[in-house]
Amino acid sequence: MVIKKIAVLFSGTGSNMEKIVKEVHKKTFNGTTLEIAVLICNNPNAKGIEKAKKYGLETTIIDHTRFESREDFDLVLVDTIKQSGAELTVLAGFMRILTPYFTKNIKAINLHPSLLPLFKGAHAIEESFASDMKVGGVTVHYVNEELDGGNIIAQKAFEKTDNMTLESFEETIHSIEHTLLPQTIIKILTQKE
Ligand code: GRF
Repeated sequence: MVIKKIAVLFSGTGSNMEKIVKEVHKKTFNGTTLEIAVLICNNPNAKGIEKAKKYGLETTIIDHTRFESREDFDLVLVDTIKQSGAELTVLAGFMRILTPYFTKNIKAINLHPSLLPLFKGAHAIEESFASDMKVGGVTVHYVNEELDGGNIIAQKAFEKTDNMTLESFEETIHSIEHTLLPQTIIKILTQKE
């Protein structure tokens, strides 16, 4: 049996991390079993840490405020991921800008709540809601040295209807994220050529 390991990084609520735990962790697809090798969080107060415990999973906390520079933080982050044996790292609501040291050493994918390359950065949901576009969406992309800039792997759009509020727009985004990210992980690691 083939086992492939992933690292999952989060910073806050951890709803996407929870979906990965439920839909991907210790599940077998096409003869390949996927396993979370390590869960990492940069925020000791993140709600996701308790969520993970419900599934018997401990989170490794690497508190970014304890490091002098982004590079120092990334050094420990990369080391922790390498030691876990993960071949793919998933940024599931991980709210840190990563340095080239990370992007050169780690194969990672990121979840972003807009149709990239539009609305990069931390205010994607508000900006895409406020824009005159008639669709919103979600992107999963490879991580490179440019913020929200790597190759796009998967995207899903939805119609922005006139009666949508920012809240319902955001809810639609999260519900799409919760299926698109697990599906993409499974596809990358288990799809037969
Ligand atoms: C998601 O909307 C993701 O796109 C963004 O941060 C949010 C994380 O939510 N990068 P959660 O912590 O997974 O609930």
